Amino acid sequence: MLTLPRTIAAMSATAPALQAGPLSDPEIQAIRRDFPILASSVNGHPLVYLDSGATSQKPTGVLDTEREFYERRNSAVHRGAHTLAALATEEFEDARGAVARFIGAGDDEVVWTSNATEALNLVAYAMGNATLGRGGEASARFRLGAGDEIVVTEMEHHANLLPWQELAARTGATLRYIPIADDGTLRMDVAAETINSRTRVLAFTHVSNVLGVINPVADLVALGHAVGALVVLDACQSAPHLGLDVAALDVDFAAFSGHKMLGPTGVGVLYGKRELLNALPPFLVGGSMITTVTMETAEYLPAPQRFEAGTQRVAQAIGLAAAIHYLDVVGLARIAEHEASLGAMLVEGLSLIPGIRVLGPGIGQPRVGLASFDVAGVHSHDVGQFLDDRGIAVRVGHHCAQPLHRRFGVTSTTRASAYLYTTRDEVAEFLDGVVAATEFFGVNS
Ligand SMILES: Cc1ncc(COP(=O)(O)O)c(C=O)c1O
Repeated sequence: MLTLPRTIAAMSATAPALQAGPLSDPEIQAIRRDFPILASSVNGHPLVYLDSGATSQKPTGVLDTEREFYERRNSAVHRGAHTLAALATEEFEDARGAVARFIGAGDDEVVWTSNATEALNLVAYAMGNATLGRGGEASARFRLGAGDEIVVTEMEHHANLLPWQELAARTGATLRYIPIADDGTLRMDVAAETINSRTRVLAFTHVSNVLGVINPVADLVALGHAVGALVVLDACQSAPHLGLDVAALDVDFAAFSGHKMLGPTGVGVLYGKRELLNALPPFLVGGSMITTVTMETAEYLPAPQRFEAGTQRVAQAIGLAAAIHYLDVVGLARIAEHEASLGAMLVEGLSLIPGIRVLGPGIGQPRVGLASFDVAGVHSHDVGQFLDDRGIAVRVGHHCAQPLHRRFGVTSTTRASAYLYTTRDEVAEFLDGVVAATEFFGVNS
């Protein structure tokens, strides 16, 4: 056997040794030194990266983990009889275990996908396959038809809306949605009526990528389960920032992306309850997910392999495990506290600027560390360009949530989103930039 460094285990040596309580300024500076990109300049200014809601930056430990894998252990998993293949397989499965522990799941309840979008499509498409009769009796509970209803919310990212639109179109089921109140919270009074005995699927986001609002997962799960619906959680904006405990939340499926939580692109996670995953017909089919194949038929492996067709994303998976290790060392509770204070600073600061309208929870209401806003009479692209000239990176457009923007009477917004490495000075600089933008564009009300 080759003896090679296990970089995930070595990560604790590179991550800062942090204490309990809120993240202090020296700790945030120590964290920032682990992210090489944060030392860059953009347009002659130090980079102020406020687009972590789109994708996060990566610490050196994650970058090293991926590079060392490719340099020293690169091999396809679950296939080879050689030493490198065995090492790669072990590390790949260890990474799955790290994700499982992070979310309170069993190892076989964690399915690797390319991203959250693929994870959500997997569930919806496989349910469509069940409706076509695939999966035999075991898959009966996934079959939909006319009269059945799928319930989402008006604040969904398109990744958690379009797969359900397609499933409704394929099966004859009806898609319904829970509307949003003016303050960005869900109309739970309406939810109680929308979720009824016809509801077969309830799919919703834990945290809105536009509003920053944290949805009442426990209440929604209770409403869904009371009528026997499958509950699917989009945890893209919660797992990286608040953490995720699928056992405590009792969701049936959950999806999130590695790249939003310090990990590489190209890897996402679908969590599913064991008995549900094993009853769900496959989505993608091909190599590495079967027991027996004849020219006419195939028998599929149990979960998670039944959903992992083809050569797997090994470096990305172990990179994600390294990212999770980093988050664990810093502590999700401390990260959430830091981001909540930045979210409050964002909404308070933006609300003071004439001509700015912040979508979602107002001052004093809970929100994560992001804020989307409209600048009266100015397109978000112009705002984004103005800020970029000062080295400030924000997201502009509809953030893949067109119905939500339509609900608030706008076509696009500018979004600033923070993470564990974001400083209060950066948020202050961003707020100064927005003030300057409103002056530059002649906004006065
Ligand atoms: C709430 C939410 N859901 C789903 C997604 C889709 O994630 P990905 O593009 O990584 O698949 C995103 C990404 O922005 C998101 O914010």
